[in-house]
Amino acid sequence: MKIEQAINIFFSPTGTTKKIVTAISTSLNIKNNNEINLTNEYSDLNIINIPSTSIAIIGIPVYRGGLPFEAVKRLNQISGKKTPAIINVIYGNRDYDNALIELKQIISRQGFVPIAEGAFIGEHSFSSREYPIAANRPDKKDLESALTFGQMISKKINSQDWTTPELSKQDYIDIKKKEPLRVSPIVDINLCDNCGRCKMSCPTGSIINSLGKITTKQETCITCMACVKTCHNNARSIQDQKLLNIIKMLHDNNQKRKEPAFKLLI
Ligand SMILES: Cc1cc2nc3c(=O)[nH]c(=O)nc-3n(C[C@H](O)[C@H](O)[C@H](O)COP(=O)(O)O)c2cc1C
Repeated sequence: MKIEQAINIFFSPTGTTKKIVTAISTSLNIKNNNEINLTNEYSDLNIINIPSTSIAIIGIPVYRGGLPFEAVKRLNQISGKKTPAIINVIYGNRDYDNALIELKQIISRQGFVPIAEGAFIGEHSFSSREYPIAANRPDKKDLESALTFGQMISKKINSQDWTTPELSKQDYIDIKKKEPLRVSPIVDINLCDNCGRCKMSCPTGSIINSLGKITTKQETCITCMACVKTCHNNARSIQDQKLLNIIKMLHDNNQKRKEPAFKLLI
């Protein structure tokens, strides 16, 4: 089958997932390359259909061992028609648990055919100067792996027609999702200059700037840390002691570098 278009589909509040998806997509060498950025579309997306002559390169970060609810909601509005998909999860050097299986289930239900899968490492959203976790990843070596992965896929799809891979028994396991953290970053008003970058970076529209006072809606905040990482004055931070303890623990327990894992499914 001739692939006419590559479509990069990702949810990436702090940008690491986007880097991996872009690297894989680039190495496929398909001229017509488009993007559906699920991070920005916090209003309702219309249903988007991706034809079978396209290939979807999909990347979603791992939150609490699974996929973020918000990303799943947005993914459910995209459908394929036996459209081949390269599915990827990006995690912060702890583990990706059942996230890749979850992504495979969702994508297959939405009419895509997963032809390759990968798990890559990105700087942990909670990484800080005090408690670095997989800082500055994906790095050069990670991006080279992503390129190798893309080349492997490119070789395969250009060499022959593929048969639709069967899902294995493991792909049907029942996935129990953990509730979101519901902890929002706090603003230090002495450091905030009201530039509005945090509001712009928020994937769920949870930051409200009313009469110069910035507040964050805890009910919809997904603790993605985009606002914290984008603030040029370091005015936003996590102050919740329970989460701060978890961050220290994540730092202490996940210093050993994990490497990307990827394979073809066809
Ligand atoms: C709420 C939350 C939960 C997370 N849970 C996990 C996890 O279970 N395992 C892990 O290794 N990383 C976890 N991470 C880290 C992200 O998966 C990782 O930093 C990813 O690279 C972020 O992608 P992005 O840069 O595209 O936003 C979590 C991050 C957040 C914000």
